[in-house]
Amino acid sequence: MIETSDENTPFTPVTVLGLGPMGRALAAAFLKARHPVTVWNRTPGKAGDLLDRGAVAADSVQDAVEAGEVIIACLIDYDAVRATLEPSQAGWENRRLVNLTSGEPAQARQMSLWASSHGIDYLDGAILTPAPAIGTPSATVLFSGARDVYESAQETMAAMGGTAVHLGDEPGRAAAYEVALLDIFATSVNGIVHAFALASAEGIEPERFATFATQIGGLLPEMITRFARQIQTGRYPGDRSTIASAASGITHIINTATIHGIDVGMLTAAKGIIDQAVGDGYGPEGLARLTTVLHRAGRP
Ligand SMILES: NC(=O)c1ccc[n+]([C@@H]2O[C@H](COP(=O)([O-])OP(=O)(O)OC[C@H]3O[C@@H](n4cnc5c(N)ncnc54)[C@H](OP(=O)(O)O)[C@@H]3O)[C@@H](O)[C@H]2O)c1
Repeated sequence: MIETSDENTPFTPVTVLGLGPMGRALAAAFLKARHPVTVWNRTPGKAGDLLDRGAVAADSVQDAVEAGEVIIACLIDYDAVRATLEPSQAGWENRRLVNLTSGEPAQARQMSLWASSHGIDYLDGAILTPAPAIGTPSATVLFSGARDVYESAQETMAAMGGTAVHLGDEPGRAAAYEVALLDIFATSVNGIVHAFALASAEGIEPERFATFATQIGGLLPEMITRFARQIQTGRYPGDRSTIASAASGITHIINTATIHGIDVGMLTAAKGIIDQAVGDGYGPEGLARLTTVLHRAGRP
């Protein structure tokens, strides 16, 4: 307990392992909230102005762990977290490891098992917002893992700003949400760059195209909510548009892209699912039905 805002409110010492853009943003947010902050990064010299603002750079992971009560790991992947922490298994008494590194649900579960086998209190987390949003009301962070560990770190983690949600004791839950949400992002980005490639091959100026493309993006929130309702109830009305119509639409895109020599791998895979749905008799149903076809298509 290094400093107090008043006689009764101690500021928990926080360690941040990893000084990529997100690690730096986290360290800055904890400093702003007046926590004593220790930072460590594999490659030295990445702390920048964090040191001027009061952070201390640890020479070793072991020193960094011992300096904090809440130890945040924010590295490129779970393998890096394991490689970083494996040699520093001592000194974890009265400390919690909060792993905010992106990963897969199975990796989060394995990490939790690894931590408990070393007597380390562990909380997994997934940051859903970009680095500049950390410490602002728009930040959203999901947590999963033992509730008592979450509650003991909750007040400290409030420095990240915005919304924090504990999804329950199952350690893989936050990563499960994260990968499913990243699925939207990854496929959407692919769709956007493909559309720009197709538009420019047809001689359409990117900025002119964007004025219409953003209208398509604006349709997505309502569609996501409507699909959720349909998937929840198992009813997929084709009153707005049908899978049969989508089969026709995606064929136009594939044919035009092919003429221009643009890759159609992702579209062909998507058409394969649509064709399978039509073959199964789902042509008159709405697009949310494709969720159930995808489930079957992915089975060995
Ligand atoms: N940036 C964002 O806006 C954002 C948003 C949401 C979630 N996230 C997640 O936050 C995590 C960190 O992201 P980031 O953007 O800060 O940077 P990043 O590029 O994903 O990761 C860079 C950090 O990982 C370290 N690192 C890489 N390999 C390592 C290894 N083998 N051993 C130890 N350290 C290693 C780097 O150290 P060196 O400097 O030594 O290379 C650096 O500190 C990621 O999981 C990312 O998905 C980021």
